[in-house]
Amino acid sequence: MALIPIAVTLLALLGSAAVGDALRCNCTNCKSDPECETDGACMASIYYEKGKEEHVRMCIKRNDLVPPGQPFYCLSAEGLMNTHCCYQDYCNSIDLKVPVPRTAGDWTETGSSWGPVELVAVIAGPVFLLCVLLMVGVFLFQYHQRAYSHRQRLEVEDPSCDHLYLAKDKTLQDLIYDMSTSGSGSGLPLFVQRTVARTIVLQEIIGKGRFGEVWRGKWRGGDVAVKIFSSREERSWFREAEIYQTIMLRHENILGFIAADNKDNGTWTQLWLVSDYHEHGSLFDYLNRYSVSIESMIKLALSAASGLAHLHMEILGTQGKPGIAHRDLKSKNILVKKNGTCAIADLGLAVRHESITDTIDIAPNQRVGTKRYMAPEVLDETINMKHFDSFKCADIYALGLVYWEIARRCNAGGIHDEYQLPYYDLVPSDPSIEEMRKVVCDQKLRPSIPNWWQSYESLRVMGKIMRECWYANGAARLTALRIKKTLSQLSVEEDVKM
Ligand SMILES: *[C@@H]1O[C@H](CO)[C@@H](O)[C@H](O)[C@H]1NC(C)=O
Repeated sequence: MALIPIAVTLLALLGSAAVGDALRCNCTNCKSDPECETDGACMASIYYEKGKEEHVRMCIKRNDLVPPGQPFYCLSAEGLMNTHCCYQDYCNSIDLKVPVPRTAGDWTETGSSWGPVELVAVIAGPVFLLCVLLMVGVFLFQYHQRAYSHRQRLEVEDPSCDHLYLAKDKTLQDLIYDMSTSGSGSGLPLFVQRTVARTIVLQEIIGKGRFGEVWRGKWRGGDVAVKIFSSREERSWFREAEIYQTIMLRHENILGFIAADNKDNGTWTQLWLVSDYHEHGSLFDYLNRYSVSIESMIKLALSAASGLAHLHMEILGTQGKPGIAHRDLKSKNILVKKNGTCAIADLGLAVRHESITDTIDIAPNQRVGTKRYMAPEVLDETINMKHFDSFKCADIYALGLVYWEIARRCNAGGIHDEYQLPYYDLVPSDPSIEEMRKVVCDQKLRPSIPNWWQSYESLRVMGKIMRECWYANGAARLTALRIKKTLSQLSVEEDVKM
């Protein structure tokens, strides 16, 4: 193999340079000493060898930390090895998650005759060579780009080398900011998304749903949320990624989308959707856990309305956005950010409005979404699906229910109710459409608004908004923009700092 000499050279380099004095690391392959010293980084890695998991801890010299920002020695290889570099004494003492052994077979073969250091070198060597070649390609390509148009997008197929495209020390926030201000849609170019997705290290599962699982992952030291769809759900994955990448969708109260990736490993396709991570989780979880002050209630309600207003709004022009209706708004699909505001998530069922042709971008199937939150016209199927505004009105009805969930948890004068789902007292858990229809359409019942809310201005206003979100006639309901304005006013009166 022609690549072995390169690996050996790298090894020699690694061995010959003088040992620095700053950093002490754990070492698994230093002859007598369980520790080593370096001027660079501590590294820990875990991989499979002969079907057994192997741990390596070692020192990496500063000179070997190339390229800066994302050194090859510190890269994980998808499904083969998890690697972590760090820069404090004995920080590589940690236990890493084992990689999912997708191609464990191949790995056992090569792994058996190589020690851990050689293994790293053997991986880094070819990758380095490949990347040098690719770099030449990149320069040629960029030259070509400048000479022609900026519109073309490149999709680099080999993920191990895409990262040359990523500016070495950029964080995701920088990258996304660059992308969204350069006006090329709402997100990173495809090949960058791919690179990001493939260098995320999954940490823990934080949720499960009908589509698959949600994980917390790490990318360049920051937390991200990864929604992993089962391969049956390819269409949901595609649709959600498509909606999130609608031009100009980015908004502080809509979940920040980072990347979509479909990794095909030959046997099955793994579908990823990467987004910002919010440690509070959903509004549903949040309200179950905490009661909220009047100020927090207004913050939550106003931010949710701002997010929905932005989603609904059509902005005309080349830098515009289509109107979007969510169609599955509920407290479980709204996230709570660290600063106590909301971010609307789960856009998988959303529809977009093409105003030029006055059509909706996908054939909206009958009754999707969560039955408990379905508007009366959706339950009894009288909704006019040709008319885009009908979907917006149905969202507003659901927003009213979410407001009711929030307001019940509002702690005013020492009183607040326990958390409940809307209609908890009228329908069983997991109600059928028929059960919902009886209550909402036939009996025309709505969640009850306690009398004592009248004694507090904020709760009185919230109660009034809810009633005006719940009219049987969709067209009579408030708009998201109207609600946003009313709540902005309230927030000024109540001196709420947003
Ligand atoms: C790493 O080194 C420190 C200091 O010698 C030691 O206390 C710790 O147990 C080591 N960790 C592992 C996993 O070997």
